[in-house]
Amino acid sequence: MSDLHIVVLAAGKGTRMKSARAKVLHHVAGRPMIERVLATASSIAPRSTTVVIGHQADAVREALSGPQSPTFVVQEPQLGTAHALLTTEPALRDARGTLVLLSGDAPLLTAATLKTLVDRHRNTGAAATVVSAVVENPHGYGRIVRSGEQIARIVEEKDATEAERDICEINSGIYAFALEGLFDAVRSIAAENAQHEYYLPDLVAIFRRQGRRVETVVVSDPEEIRGINSRSELAAVSRIVRHEKTAALMAAGVTIEDPGAAYIDADVVIGADTILHPGVSIEGNTTIGSGCEIHSGARIVDSTIGDGVTVFNHCVITNTRLADAVKVGPFAHLRDRADIRDHAKVGNFVEIKKTVFGARSKANHLAYLGDAIVGDDVNIGAGTITCNYDGVKKHQTTIEDGAFIGSDTQLIAPVTIGRGAYVGTGATIRKDVPADALAVSAGKQRNIEHWVSDRKKK
Ligand code: UD1
Ligand code: CA
Repeated sequence: MSDLHIVVLAAGKGTRMKSARAKVLHHVAGRPMIERVLATASSIAPRSTTVVIGHQADAVREALSGPQSPTFVVQEPQLGTAHALLTTEPALRDARGTLVLLSGDAPLLTAATLKTLVDRHRNTGAAATVVSAVVENPHGYGRIVRSGEQIARIVEEKDATEAERDICEINSGIYAFALEGLFDAVRSIAAENAQHEYYLPDLVAIFRRQGRRVETVVVSDPEEIRGINSRSELAAVSRIVRHEKTAALMAAGVTIEDPGAAYIDADVVIGADTILHPGVSIEGNTTIGSGCEIHSGARIVDSTIGDGVTVFNHCVITNTRLADAVKVGPFAHLRDRADIRDHAKVGNFVEIKKTVFGARSKANHLAYLGDAIVGDDVNIGAGTITCNYDGVKKHQTTIEDGAFIGSDTQLIAPVTIGRGAYVGTGATIRKDVPADALAVSAGKQRNIEHWVSDRKKK
């Protein structure tokens, strides 16, 4: 679609959010809402994409910078949606054809509707095409005023008469415009209204007065054009995205016991026959294989999980890999490149950080493993701690295949426990243990007979 240009409005303050953060950077199911708008925009392969920023401009620019970064123009001060579009005129000076205007706060628009908008606009040769919807509760939106079949103008809630407020067809704030003569028409918009702002929807009446054609695309699902202006609308839109996500996962064979109580970000991938219990949060760039079971209270972020894995209740798993048939939890904390190999078991109150934990190895209770390489078939006793930090630097612990670490052991890194070696209970290991050796460091036990009753006598 070579003569197609996109403008996304994202300069507004978002007053009703009551937030220090720019409205368009608030997350909907794990991603800033404006990222969703831009992803949808890219589906029609525009020749250019321009984002109008203003409030918190630097933060918005930074959040969207990357290889596919759009062009930014700054609107300062923010005098309304028409004024926002006008600030893109220098950037679009040489542009011809169609301009599609999207709103950074309406993230549910689908690629299909966007395509319908562009097709209708081109096929009718209209000066403007407005995406509208018929809703039960039009409160807060601009209303579409028709004369006969044709759209005559759009009136904002605050400027509407009582009769106009009863109109249930609303403006989505999403439009296609013919670039020919567009900016001249925008310049003729006045701020004579309740908010003293330059309203872009005023273009409709202006074009109609000029005898130019204005079309509408009425979406069948009004949810699609929901705008986010407040925290409760943010929650409502997030709920819709999550609902779509859980529906898609279930259709693909995932069991979700209570879809309303599963918090799954849009980009998460989950295999068939995996079971999700209520109250799981699966976030960011996470992939879970098939035949897994994730119990209540687990939070999994940016992690990769193989097939047949069980995550028991209340585990926190971030930036971690779990290979096939691993068992984790309850109450385990895996983070920062923990790499748990197949059939390994990580039990209650175990924390693992930046550590490879070998196949079939076990740390069933109460341990901390940080900056370690643990081989296959290793047993880590309860209360084992890698003392990886000397107050200045982190050091590595290596535990070779088949080693057995007795309970309550401190491994003072850097240190290596050789293949198949044993470390006796309660040891403080400061020197390497050779393969096949037994290391003991605790003192000899001494029993003092009758000590308790002797003391009582005194
Ligand atoms: C706007 C429409 C309304 C429509 C609704 C749909 C106007 C006057 N009204 O109202 O008809 O029903 O969207 O959601 O256009 N923005 C700027 N610069 C500005 C003002 C706004 O970039 O000076 C941006 C905002 O950041 C936002 C978008 O434009 O992304 C819409 O602005 P907002 O203030 O939310 O308009 P609404 O009152 O929702
Ligand atoms: Ca809005």
